[in-house]
Amino acid sequence: MNAQPRRVEHQQTDKGNVPVYTTAVVEQPWASYSREDHATWAALFERQQEILVGRAAREFIDNQRRLRMTPDAIPKFDELNRVLRKATGWELVGVEGLLPELTFFEHLANRRFPVTWWIRRPDQIDYISEPDLFHDLFGHVPLLLNPAFADYMQAYGRGGVKAHGIGADALVNLTRLYWYTVEFGLIQQEDGLRIYGSGIVSSKGESIHCLESTAPNRLGFDLMRIMRTRYRIDTYQKTYFVIGSFEQLMRATEPDFTPYYAQLAAQGSIPAGNVLPGDLVYNRGTGEGWARDGDI
Ligand code: PHE
Ligand code: CO
Repeated sequence: MNAQPRRVEHQQTDKGNVPVYTTAVVEQPWASYSREDHATWAALFERQQEILVGRAAREFIDNQRRLRMTPDAIPKFDELNRVLRKATGWELVGVEGLLPELTFFEHLANRRFPVTWWIRRPDQIDYISEPDLFHDLFGHVPLLLNPAFADYMQAYGRGGVKAHGIGADALVNLTRLYWYTVEFGLIQQEDGLRIYGSGIVSSKGESIHCLESTAPNRLGFDLMRIMRTRYRIDTYQKTYFVIGSFEQLMRATEPDFTPYYAQLAAQGSIPAGNVLPGDLVYNRGTGEGWARDGDI
């Protein structure tokens, strides 16, 4: 039997029927992982390592190497924490699964990254609808070693605590920013478009789709545009936003968002797949490069 989480109940939300877990921090029960659990880790790890060559951002690949994760066994949080604490002061804490928003923000604001301790079953190798250990460790942890990104994640947590106090609409806006950067972000590097979003790097299908398919929009990073854009949680993204650098992301998100939320409240949301006049569009089937929508 694989190691499985303790599920408390289910709750109906605007994202569908979602499991609710205990919000407590839990010790990683490393000894209880089965051989099958370790084999699932190995299969996913090896597959993604290969897929990400030439696709993932330089900072992702380099920092992943520094963590010394291997396919041999599920990593121990304690060992990763030794590297993380020294590099950027972040630490991983084990959790049962998705946390309530405020609890999650408070962890980030204190440089603690919650990691789901259990790994998906073998029949979920290609798709799982909620974060598991593979997504959280493989996808999120490498960039926590990057100083700019490490600061961005903490600032996001603090911004989340604030948005939570402002209201539900502000939270919706801010969550979209997390989605389109931390989870599904692309970055323009010297050698081409690259992936840095954790939701992409932990998915074989989406790693290929986001760069190579002509179906999705790839738009230049635009903070207010992102905070108005809806997203799908059950299919590949219809739109990705591309940053030029992590420093650009830091700079754009540095100001107090309070007036932004007020402005956004007066504007409608944008469907996930729409391109608007004035959007900066990358590589629309015509080769490399950027064009304003309307210019081509
Ligand atoms: N600066 C934002 C605020 O005042 C917080 C934030 C920082 C949000 C970084 C996202 C990323 O709310
Ligand atoms: Co995630």
